[in-house]
Amino acid sequence: MNSNQDIFKKIVSHSKEYGFIFQSSEIYDGLSAVYDYAQNGVELKNNIKKYWWASMVQMNDNIVGLDSAILMHPKTWKASGHVDAFNDPLIDNKDSKLRYRADVLIEDYIAKIESKIQKEINKAQKRFGDSFDEIQFRKTNQRVLDNQKKIDNTIEQMKKCFQEDDLLALKKLIDELGIADPVSGSRNWTDIKQFNLMFSTKVGASSDSSSEIYLRPETAQGIFVNFLNVQKSSRKKIPFGIAQIGKAFRNEIIARQFIFRMREFEQMEMQFFVKPGTQSEWYKKWKETRMNWHKSLGISEENYRFHDHDKLAHYADAACDIEYKFPFGFKELEGIHSRTNFDLTQHESHSGKKLKYFDPEDNKSYVPYVVETSIGLDRMFLAILSSSFFEEKLENDSIRTVLKIPPFLAPFKAAILPLVKKDGLSEFAKKLYDNLKIHYNISYDEKDAVGRRYRRQDAIGTPLCITVDHDSLNDNMITIRDRDTMKQKRVKIKDLKSEIDKLVNISNWLSKS
Ligand code: GAP
Repeated sequence: MNSNQDIFKKIVSHSKEYGFIFQSSEIYDGLSAVYDYAQNGVELKNNIKKYWWASMVQMNDNIVGLDSAILMHPKTWKASGHVDAFNDPLIDNKDSKLRYRADVLIEDYIAKIESKIQKEINKAQKRFGDSFDEIQFRKTNQRVLDNQKKIDNTIEQMKKCFQEDDLLALKKLIDELGIADPVSGSRNWTDIKQFNLMFSTKVGASSDSSSEIYLRPETAQGIFVNFLNVQKSSRKKIPFGIAQIGKAFRNEIIARQFIFRMREFEQMEMQFFVKPGTQSEWYKKWKETRMNWHKSLGISEENYRFHDHDKLAHYADAACDIEYKFPFGFKELEGIHSRTNFDLTQHESHSGKKLKYFDPEDNKSYVPYVVETSIGLDRMFLAILSSSFFEEKLENDSIRTVLKIPPFLAPFKAAILPLVKKDGLSEFAKKLYDNLKIHYNISYDEKDAVGRRYRRQDAIGTPLCITVDHDSLNDNMITIRDRDTMKQKRVKIKDLKSEIDKLVNISNWLSKS
C-alpha cells in the first residue's frame, strides 16, 4: 500500500472515531455510497455552507438565493435531457463480474502514462539539479515524447467516440489499448451499455407509469424553472445569479472513495444569467472567482488545478473542473459550465411558457445564456479533511493527530478546560463557557488530564484551548493554546472574545475570497 492510500484510510477511520462521518444504516451493515454526518461533521459541513453562501449571496448584490423542492414535475427531466442523456457508459468484465465506467478506465490508463512521464522528469531533475529545465526536457526526451503522443492519441480517439456517440468504437479502443480489469487483470470485456443515473419513485397511490417522478440529479433545474419568478419578484436585471444549496441523487454504479462519489449528496450551485454573446467573458470571470474562493481558505495552492473538458455535456459550450489533489489523486471538486440557453429554451418548449427576459437597455426580449458554478459540498468537506489531517511527532516521541481546519470552519471555535475540577475552577470555567457560547460554538471538557484533553480537541480541529487555572480566580486571566503551533499565552478574560474573533471571524476570509 502506498502512503497516500494509507493516509486516506486513516482519514476515513478518523472521521468515524471522532464523530465526523458514519456509514448510513451501519447496524444493518450499511447502505453503500450513503453516509451520515455526525456531531462534528454536521458543524463543519454547516460552516462550509455558510461560507459559500456568504461569498456568493451576501457578497454579491446581483445574486439571490433559492431553496427549491427535490421533487419536480417529471417533464422537467425530459426537457433538461436527463431522461435521455444522463447516462454512464458502463462495461462489465466477464471474468471478475465487476462493472466499470468505460471513460474512467481510459482515464486511468492515461493517468498511468502520465505518471511514467512524471517519473522520467523526477529522475532527470535529480540528475541535473538546479539547472534542470522541465519544458526543454519534455520537448526533447524521446521516452517522454512517445508517452505524450500516446496520451494525445488516446484523448483524441475517446473524444471522437463520445462526439459520435459510438459505443462500439469506445469498446474497440479499450481492447486496442489492452486495458485490463484493475482488480482481476482480465481483458475479457462485454460491450458498453448506457445506464441512466436517475432514481425514480411514484407520486401518490397510483402505480401507473404516469405517476413516476425522479429524485433530482442536480439542483440546477429548480433554478431554471424558477428563473422568471425570481427575476420578476426580485426585480433583478441581467446579469444576475440564483444560488442554491441542496441534496441531489444519482444512482452511481461505481460508488467508491468514501464521500467522494455518493448516491445521495449535496450540491452548492449558482446559475448566472447573462446576455447572449457575453457568456465566454462571464465563464472566464467565474472560473477565476471560484478558484480564488478555494485559495482564500489557505489550503496549499498546489492542491488545485483546472481541467478543461474534452467531452462536453449535452448542454454546454465550454466547461472545466476545478480539481483537488485528494489522497487518491487529482479529481473533480467543482464544475464551471457555460450552459448556453439550452435549459431555458428546453423548458420553454416543453412547458409552453415563455422564459424570456425583457432587456430594458436593448429594448428587446431574449432567452438568457447561463454560466453555472457547481460544487459538491461533500467533496469540499473531504478536501478540507484531507488537507487538514496531520500526524506530528512531538518532542517526547509521541504522535499527535491534528486537524488543521481553517479556524472559522472548525466545528468548535474554542474549548474551555478547567485545569482541575475542584477549588472552584469548574464553576469559574462554566461561567466563561456560558458567556462565550452566545457568540460561538464552544466545547467544555473537564475530564482527564489536560494533555489528553488537548489531544481530543486537536483531533477535532478546535483552534483554541482555553485553560482556567488557580491563578485565573485571582488575576482574571486564562491561558490560550494555539492548535497549530501549540504555543501558549496568558490573556485577560476581558480580551478573550477579541482574541477568538481575530482567529475565527468569517469576515477575515470573506474579504480575501
Ligand atoms: N449542475 C451541474 C452538475 O450537476 P456535475 O459536474 O455533474 O454538474 C457538480 O456535478 C458537482 O457535484 C461535481 O463537481 C461534484 O463536486 C459533485 N458531485 C457530482 N456527483 C457526485 C457524487 N456522486 N457524489 C458526490 N458529489 C458529486
